[in-house]
Amino acid sequence: MQETSKVHRIKGRTIGLVPTMGALHEGHLSLVKRAKNENDVVVVSIFVNPLQFGRNEDFDRYPRDIERDRELLKRLDIDVLFAPDPKLMYPDAFATSVTVGRCSDTLCGAFRPGHFTGVATVVAKLFNQVKPTRAYFGQKDFQQTVVIRRMVEDLNMDIEIVIGQTIREADGLALSSRNAYLSGAERQAAALLYQVLLASSGAVTPGERTDEVREAMHKALRAAPLIAEVQYAGVYDPATLEELAEFGKRNLLAVAVKIGGTRLIDNMLVEK
Ligand code: PAJ
Repeated sequence: MQETSKVHRIKGRTIGLVPTMGALHEGHLSLVKRAKNENDVVVVSIFVNPLQFGRNEDFDRYPRDIERDRELLKRLDIDVLFAPDPKLMYPDAFATSVTVGRCSDTLCGAFRPGHFTGVATVVAKLFNQVKPTRAYFGQKDFQQTVVIRRMVEDLNMDIEIVIGQTIREADGLALSSRNAYLSGAERQAAALLYQVLLASSGAVTPGERTDEVREAMHKALRAAPLIAEVQYAGVYDPATLEELAEFGKRNLLAVAVKIGGTRLIDNMLVEK
């Protein structure tokens, strides 16, 4: 991969990288299409990164279908599918990790200790392997984009980070590889996440307190019988991810719940 990229870079070509864990859906593919429009060469990586899964999380049952993914990517005519072997990514002697402080510890980080260190470490490796001009991430994982941007700035990585909008099902549910875990009834209940974000977005008024909106979000989510746990729901500063007591110009509405055993997240950026 490094040799391939070196040749492209020497020839002055721009490289767009879309890092994924596979089980591709239209959310991933929208990033690939954008990368194609904006770069000479497009690399899509597929790697289910063991470092970013907690001990009791779904690493073993995470959906994997490389043949289907390969077919979908072939149709989009990308240049390189980079699917490294876990033993090459993490040989026995592997001992380095990248921890991005502060923004990794709140929201999802509070419920998934070590998760964002796993993400930052693998993304740093992918950046060094692929040497992209631009790398593409989805707003669906908003905190991930904040962590990656912080890492790129702090470590002077010469890579442009591009954020693509969240792609949704017709009822608003954000596409996710984990939606495959949901039963029929759970799938129906999952649409509530977007409905709650949408309803809350209408109440955003800069300068006003956020308490009522936060309480309404919690109340609506807790009222759904299939939602087993509300991990967080509220209004956050999109730059720092700190909870906002008052609405500002830029507001991140974000939620994380468990439906059955499946953890789902969603967010909406509301700018006034
Ligand atoms: P994965 O969950 O496969 O997602 C790959 C990329 O697709 C991420 O940037 C994610 O935000 C984006 N994405 C997922 N669902 C989306 C949707 N509905 N609309 C738009 N974009 C969406 O995120 C990861 O993998 C990993 O953490 C990774 C960055 C690859 C590091 O291992």
